[in-house]
Amino acid sequence: MTTNNNPPNHDALIVALDVPTAKEAKALVEQIGDAASFYKIGLELAMTPDYFALLDWLVAQDKRVFCDIKLHDIPATVGRAVARLGNSGASLLTIHAGQAAMLEAAAKARAGDLRLLVVTLLTSINQQDLMDMGVARTPLDQVIANAEMAETAGIDGVVCSGHELPMLREEYGDELLTVVPGIRPAGVDAGDQQRVMTPGQAIAAGANHIVVGRAIRDAPDPAAAAAAIQDEIAAAI
Ligand code: C5P
Repeated sequence: MTTNNNPPNHDALIVALDVPTAKEAKALVEQIGDAASFYKIGLELAMTPDYFALLDWLVAQDKRVFCDIKLHDIPATVGRAVARLGNSGASLLTIHAGQAAMLEAAAKARAGDLRLLVVTLLTSINQQDLMDMGVARTPLDQVIANAEMAETAGIDGVVCSGHELPMLREEYGDELLTVVPGIRPAGVDAGDQQRVMTPGQAIAAGANHIVVGRAIRDAPDPAAAAAAIQDEIAAAI
């Protein structure tokens, strides 16, 4: 479901609800108001008893929902988990890159409006971590290889850093939906994110959606911060 009376690119901004309780998540959504229509609920909230009630509440508020759960298990289990979320009202769900059969099972089990994203490579993983895992590729080559596996398996899109977008767009054109975290508006501290881009840079590089957490959550006025990002997105499209 999309919010009425908003421009088509309004959904390009996904606000990460990185807060410990559903109560705080709802308060932040209410504070942001019309400045955002798409929200990400991840592992922190999934460890609370209210995760699915929050999902229902967001859908009832006419918001779109990205369930950032990063599934990874044997194909049958992942397929069955994807099937359960199919008609929940969620728009996006993440799965870790890995076994092709797991991604195929997920794609086959997808139902309703749910679209699946593969996490190509966690932004916390560097070259040494890959070597420790016995992977000889560079992080960029690993992202490309995992995007290829996702596309072949029938997955809808990928989570990637803005820096890999040009390569992915060159390879896949518009075939893969691209969702980009690690976004910092000009002047906002990068914190623990290594490879950051501004909202405008990421959209101009071809991101379909950008994920923004702390730059909105910790702003003195979250609604104004979200509205400023919406303006930057509109200017970059
Ligand atoms: O606060 P910040 O904007 O850095 O938050 C980014 C959000 O995107 C967090 O919820 C984080 O878990 C998520 N994310 C990320 N990098 C990935 C995948 C997800 O930062 N590769």
